[in-house]
Amino acid sequence: MIRSGIEASQARGGCSLSYDAVVSDIVDPVLEAYATEHTTAPPGYLEALAHDVRAELESPGMMVGRLEGRFLEMLVFALGAHRVLEVGTFGGYSALAMAAGLPPGGTITTCELSPEHAAFARRHIAASPHADRIEVIEGPALHTIASLEGPFDFVFLDADKAAYLEYLEAILPKLATRGLIAADNTLWYGRLLDPTDNTPDTEGLRRFNDALCSDPRVVVVQTTVRDGVTLIRRADTEDSPGFHPA
Ligand SMILES: C[S@@+](CC[C@H](N)C(=O)[O-])C[C@H]1O[C@@H](n2cnc3c(N)ncnc32)[C@H](O)[C@@H]1O
Repeated sequence: MIRSGIEASQARGGCSLSYDAVVSDIVDPVLEAYATEHTTAPPGYLEALAHDVRAELESPGMMVGRLEGRFLEMLVFALGAHRVLEVGTFGGYSALAMAAGLPPGGTITTCELSPEHAAFARRHIAASPHADRIEVIEGPALHTIASLEGPFDFVFLDADKAAYLEYLEAILPKLATRGLIAADNTLWYGRLLDPTDNTPDTEGLRRFNDALCSDPRVVVVQTTVRDGVTLIRRADTEDSPGFHPA
């Protein structure tokens, strides 16, 4: 039986991928591997980072990897986002992936609780072509966000799943009128649909997903990219009826 994207892809003889496709089997693993293979390969500095994450850090599957990394870069690029906020740096893969989509002068502020992860990410960011565009701020992200001035054009939410709703409340007032939030892991390996799974992360993500789709302040699309990426924008854009800028 084919159990993972890697096995599936190896079974058809064409996969040189390592970890990307195995993380999420929400999408058919063969198609996930195919999609990853047909996504532009990462630059050398990201390949090196991914290699070191797998060698040195626990839970390397937390890293977004090739497919979602390029997806984030595309969103940043398409938005023309100048100011990006990230919650959850880990090894720095997603921050460096997004940096490649920034216009000149664009910046990324990324929040990380773990000193080990922050140090690892800083080392790799320093060795990349984007060292001057990314600031890693160590500490609990909710505290960090409270200290930051908006507006942010793009926010990638990828830490502390149980508290996603709190992050939404912290981020929304600092989101640019035409900005976008991308929240990761919102399908949580399908565990949301398991009624016996009442772990804090699963419960937190259920609350987040349920609240979002009936929240009149936002417009939302739940995608099945990797482990589920929810895209969120403000409903009160300047061209929407009844828009009253603050
Ligand atoms: C899923 S990983 C982020 C993966 C990263 N975006 C990437 O693609 O490589 C989540 C990270 O968030 C950090 N984290 C957990 N709780 C946090 C909090 N309250 N504030 C800031 N960072 C937190 C963890 O230490 C971990 O490094």
